[in-house]
Amino acid sequence: MASDNVIEEKKQGQALLTEQKKGNSKKLFIESYGCQMNLNDSEIVASILSNEGFNTTNLLEEADLVLVNTCSIREKAEQTIRKRLQKYNAVKRINPMMKVGVLGCMAERLKEKFLEEEKIVDLVVGPDAYRDLPNLIKEVEDGRDAVNVILSKDETYGDVSPVRLNSNGVSAFVSITRGCDNMCTFCVVPFTRGRERSRDPQSIIKEIHDLVDTNYKEITLLGQNVDSYLWYGGGLKKDFKKASTIAQETAVDFSQLLEMCANQFPKTRFRFSTSNPQDMSLDVLHTMAKHKNICRYIHLPVQSGSTKVLKAMNRQHTREEYIELVDNIREIVPDCALSQDIIAGFCGETEQDHQDTLTLMEYVKYDFGFMFAYSERPGTPAAKKMPDDVPMDVKKRRLTEIIELQQKHGLYRTQQFVGKTVEVLIEGESKKSDKHWKGRNSQNTVAVFEKENYKIGDFVLVKIEDCTSATLIGTAVGYSDNN
Ligand code: SAH
Ligand code: F3S
Repeated sequence: MASDNVIEEKKQGQALLTEQKKGNSKKLFIESYGCQMNLNDSEIVASILSNEGFNTTNLLEEADLVLVNTCSIREKAEQTIRKRLQKYNAVKRINPMMKVGVLGCMAERLKEKFLEEEKIVDLVVGPDAYRDLPNLIKEVEDGRDAVNVILSKDETYGDVSPVRLNSNGVSAFVSITRGCDNMCTFCVVPFTRGRERSRDPQSIIKEIHDLVDTNYKEITLLGQNVDSYLWYGGGLKKDFKKASTIAQETAVDFSQLLEMCANQFPKTRFRFSTSNPQDMSLDVLHTMAKHKNICRYIHLPVQSGSTKVLKAMNRQHTREEYIELVDNIREIVPDCALSQDIIAGFCGETEQDHQDTLTLMEYVKYDFGFMFAYSERPGTPAAKKMPDDVPMDVKKRRLTEIIELQQKHGLYRTQQFVGKTVEVLIEGESKKSDKHWKGRNSQNTVAVFEKENYKIGDFVLVKIEDCTSATLIGTAVGYSDNN
């Protein structure tokens, strides 16, 4: 998922106190690893638990309950979380009453085994079972271990208003789908997050309304596969064909949802992530072209530039079909930025396949990307049927080549902005200087510029004077007409 969407292995930010309920006496420390879906789920969990007397804290040492939302996407992500559990262990020695729960993908993958493998863990809760947390916590308080990893057909948490954690008060994520049906052979997500289902558009619009009312300016619609969004009254995507004729005829697809959002909130910027190439329709591109407030940016993971490898990965498109989609994007939304996810060294990948990935990158010249060495995940179709046969040193060398090429393309793309004036939404202070703001342009590229009298949440026109491979550097020349 987008620049900030797939930052596996890294912590996504822990709870900062934004909304505290009066009278709540218990303290929850919650932190998330992995994708933005996890961060958003933690916000849902914080909301469910705020009704149970918990306020969030950012001090681990004072917590009554510690929850960690986990990621299983690569082995390294799981190792990072196991190390984190050791830290909790050290704190528990000082605060023995503290309870520890694991949420998310690792909880779903390991289930009861987690309790045996990590003695510190009291509670194991999968991504569809968060409503059961109040009961599970009671079990734990009564001295029993508690596990709920049941996956659901219709859970979307549509009626829960997330407590915004670590928020900049400007940009927020709104989940629109859960789960994934694609069964890419390398991927653990369909096993940990279950089958795909979409959320009621009315509840999506209501959540956006609440955000806009509290001054949020940018909304990212989130899902493993947003383009496959389909609301027909609830239930699994795969059961759509079994729905009544009227339900099918009145169904809302992703381009319609996007259109509804863009029309109802003309001053709000919209982003979405992730787009699976096989599901991206021309309708979505035309909707983007029609609305200035839909950002010119698509995260379009390709994984490999070789049709043979794509087939082994069970991606439902060829190299040529992907190129055709990119050509369509360039034609219909000419100023659209593209980013990728690429896996280096998947099972059976030859030197020629790797070259195919490099030439595809050369063709697209992605603005940025997220690149990984293949990591075999237990239980996936690839782990069951395909030998992980590319030696680690070869995987690493190919990954380095891919990263270096991406850096070159990143610089090429940022250079195209030099001399131009772009609209930037101010999100906060630049990491490197307290005299500069940082924000992103429509293409999702970070821009920094002197603060002057502008403030967080302003849409500002910035003249770009310089750049690095990932950042634009410029001067504000005034407000944009979007304020
Ligand atoms: N839904 C997204 C992907 C979600 S997972 C899509 O449409 O593609 C995020 C990224 O992690 C994937 O795009 C892939 O590049 C990477 N990834 C997933 N499983 C992996 C594995 N076993 N080894 C290495 N990278 C993996
Ligand atoms: Fe994973 Fe493929 Fe879905 S990468 S999340 S199975 S689209």
